[in-house]
Amino acid sequence: MNFFELVKYRRSIRKYDDRQIPKADLERIIEAGSYAPNAGGGQRSMIVGIQNRQISEALGKLNVASMRRDNLIGGNVSAEQPSIIDDPTIKSGFYGAPTVAVVFAQGNFLYSIPDAFCCAENMVLAATELDIASCIVARAEETFYNDYGKQLMQQWNIPEHFVPRCFVLLGYCKGDYPREKARKPNRTLIIE
Ligand SMILES: Cc1cc2nc3c(=O)[nH]c(=O)nc-3n(C[C@H](O)[C@H](O)[C@H](O)COP(=O)(O)O)c2cc1C
Repeated sequence: MNFFELVKYRRSIRKYDDRQIPKADLERIIEAGSYAPNAGGGQRSMIVGIQNRQISEALGKLNVASMRRDNLIGGNVSAEQPSIIDDPTIKSGFYGAPTVAVVFAQGNFLYSIPDAFCCAENMVLAATELDIASCIVARAEETFYNDYGKQLMQQWNIPEHFVPRCFVLLGYCKGDYPREKARKPNRTLIIE
């Protein structure tokens, strides 16, 4: 697959095999995240890879609990890979992914959120290159802002001014990998 094929092939996967991804692959994916474009060249983000089921299951439940259903903008996310919006019986916002990476960024910086999501995008593309399935997940701040989350951040020595911005789930797709999704029309324009 060349880069342009890979970009179209990548999908958000929410059904995972139990099989863990190799640590060496996780390191390469995190490294790709660390090379993402970043505002002002400040490299103000941190990435923590979790390959510990107990921790990721606990955080995954907190992630679901933090989701408000009263402000959803409607529509189905995916019939093939249902999200917690599509299926309210799903118990973990991490869908059983064996590896979960957390992207932290400096809270007091204007571009903290875009910086973190640029990291996440680099990571999901790197994962696809390695035949690893992935999904970006939001609500990181809400997931961590409780005693358990604060305790983890302390254990991991995350500086106080860093804020959890998003997650990147990683693993192997269980069942069929979804096909490329058609693009809505009239979303791009080139002016000459
Ligand atoms: C900013 C952002 C936040 C997202 N948050 C979640 C999330 O919390 N849970 C989830 O299952 N998927 C989440 N996704 C994945 C999107 O649902 C997914 O990218 C979208 O439905 C398009 O599908 P595709 O990635 O398969 O092309 C998020 C994606 C982005 C870019």
